[in-house]
Amino acid sequence: MLPFISKKNNKSILSLDDIKLPSHVGIIMDGNGRWAKKRGLPRSAGHSAGANNFRTITRYCNKIGIKYLTVYAFSTENWKRPEDEVGALMKLFKSYLQEAIADFKDENIVVKFIGDRNAFSPELQSLIDENEKLSADRTGMVLNIAMNYGSRDEIVRAVKNIAVDVKDGCLTIDDINEKVISDNMYTAGQPDPDLVIRPSGEYRISNFLLWQSAYTEYIIMDVLWPDFNTGMLDDALIEFARRNRRFGGV
Ligand code: FPP
Repeated sequence: MLPFISKKNNKSILSLDDIKLPSHVGIIMDGNGRWAKKRGLPRSAGHSAGANNFRTITRYCNKIGIKYLTVYAFSTENWKRPEDEVGALMKLFKSYLQEAIADFKDENIVVKFIGDRNAFSPELQSLIDENEKLSADRTGMVLNIAMNYGSRDEIVRAVKNIAVDVKDGCLTIDDINEKVISDNMYTAGQPDPDLVIRPSGEYRISNFLLWQSAYTEYIIMDVLWPDFNTGMLDDALIEFARRNRRFGGV
């Protein structure tokens, strides 16, 4: 079922109660299209199923105590998809953002968006703003939804912002360090992701959190996103806990 997860020592760790959870988890929600194709359905049906699963997994992450969850919902490159598929995704985002305003209140989830929101319709942009504004004072998990997000685009934006600060005299070239760069990313103030999970079996980073994931542990799972479930997430978290992170040290 999960051929890319090592089974070594897994028996010695039985449940989430026994392990230290990562504080920041990223998920590349991949495989919706293949899930639909396998069932003879249009790709948009795969995205609907993916959106439902996203609701389940988000709530579960908050419940078990993950502090930050970043999900890749739409990349800067996804605009290249057929118009009807992009349209179906925009519809899904709209209905999800409408319901998230009320739904995440009880769950105490802080909703943030990373990516260039200017490309979205005014209606979607207002929903994005409203979600962020209404959830800002909550104290639960921070959910970063990456929409029209591309890591290279984010880095270009950060470089431009820093260049403006240097030009305006707020910063000197010698002041530029890793913290200044991190502070100019969409994820400013948040810890780097400890773990990124990629369902669908693809061994690619796909322009996701390139700067932030310098020392992130990756887990690739052979399951399509709509079929990814909470048990599989537990397996990934247990596998993560087994890993020996050295951050370049010994
Ligand atoms: C990648 O699978 C998935 C996407 C590009 C869209 C992800 C979006 C959702 C899960 C919708 C939910 C999001 C929100 C915020 C409501 P793919 O289409 O590339 O799959 P394939 O590789 O099998 O073709």
